[in-house]
Amino acid sequence: MSAIRGLAVRAATRTLAACGDHVAQLYVPREDPWPVYGRIRRHGPVYRSVMGYAAVTSYELCSRVLRGQGFGMRDSAGRLPSEQQLPLGLAPSLLELDPPDHSRLRRLVAPAFRPKLINEYRPRIEEATARLLDRIDGGPFDLIGEFATPLPITVISELLGIPENRRGEFARYGTLTGQALDGQLTARQWAEWEAALAAMTQLFTELMNERRREPGGDVISVLVNAVDGEQVTVGEVIATCLLLLIAGFETTVNLIGNGVYQLARRPEQWRTLRENPELAAGTVEEILRYDPPVPVTGRVAQDDVELGGRVLRKDTQVLTILAAANRDPEVYAEPDRFDITRTGGPEHFAFSSGVHYCLGAQLARIEGEIALRALAERLPRLRRTGEPRRRSSASIRGFSYLPVAA
Ligand code: HEM
Repeated sequence: MSAIRGLAVRAATRTLAACGDHVAQLYVPREDPWPVYGRIRRHGPVYRSVMGYAAVTSYELCSRVLRGQGFGMRDSAGRLPSEQQLPLGLAPSLLELDPPDHSRLRRLVAPAFRPKLINEYRPRIEEATARLLDRIDGGPFDLIGEFATPLPITVISELLGIPENRRGEFARYGTLTGQALDGQLTARQWAEWEAALAAMTQLFTELMNERRREPGGDVISVLVNAVDGEQVTVGEVIATCLLLLIAGFETTVNLIGNGVYQLARRPEQWRTLRENPELAAGTVEEILRYDPPVPVTGRVAQDDVELGGRVLRKDTQVLTILAAANRDPEVYAEPDRFDITRTGGPEHFAFSSGVHYCLGAQLARIEGEIALRALAERLPRLRRTGEPRRRSSASIRGFSYLPVAA
């Protein structure tokens, strides 16, 4: 990926979007993309774009594509659609692999995310949350920069066992990769990102050597053990650690940011949460349903396949619009209403579905719940004080700046 290629692709996509291609319109970040999803939905079960993609919006078809046998990450030549390549460098990550490699790697990492282990992080997440809120003195502040960003970085650093003195570097790499995902890096920032990638690779190599000498209960210890059993390569371990940083950080920050944004727009819902902080877990689910941080993902047809009454040729890329399926009127009552007391309806698709179902879902839920509960209890007068700035990414939905006052 290069800055120039990224610019060329963006220019072509904008032209197609202006010509009315709804899939191209998905790649143009906007405050409210639901009208575009609605237009795609009205076309019928499967929308075909001049860009060659198919797109589905219904709960049923998203589920079929994500859970079905006939779809995978790569095409028959083993290529990954360019927009699904994460700018991580190195070996392919879990999200870029199909079974059996995906199953092998996932089996090795999954034990570190067992519900019992993840639950043990609760007190540390509560402590980190309290420390961040202690620094807020009641005046105006940027919710993203001062709370929603540092919290997940701290949690993922704990999970991976990143030493305190390397956490700043780790966060810087995360931020640069986030900007790369937004397609916003200048040539100088690309060079910086490459340098940061080299530093991260070195950091993880050093940590692997340390954990080999002194194993702990963290993810790196689990993975080093697997390298020694020759079940996974060193490159795969490093790619997995980087994926955990990006997947765990780029998403949870937006769960918190999008959540506060939606609650601040609806004072009555904020009051309900303040008066009933035990609703925090349900509030997290409603935020994820209503305004998910990852609005779209995709798969490739592994063979000619029938979908929604149409035949898709082998290697067709199918976009599953998770944010649209989360508001499928066939499945959710009053889907466009944000309601933190909502009950009924199946689990939303914010964490995807099938073999790539988010490995960090439980951790994200706990982080979100603790963060919202603490905000409601400690900053009951929290309100927006100015215009927020949206990230320019179409693949990650959230804010880079959200001014509030406590
Ligand atoms: C609100 C927060 C989060 C959201 C919305 C989210 C969303 C997602 C989605 C949509 C996918 C699957 C994409 C696809 O099917 O193509 C995914 C996969 C993944 N997520 Fe998350 N995620 C979140 C938090 C986390 C956290 C905290 C971690 C780890 C610390 C994490 C680690 C992963 C990993 C490792 C995968 C790849 C799983 C695989 O391919 O088998 N995520 N996430």
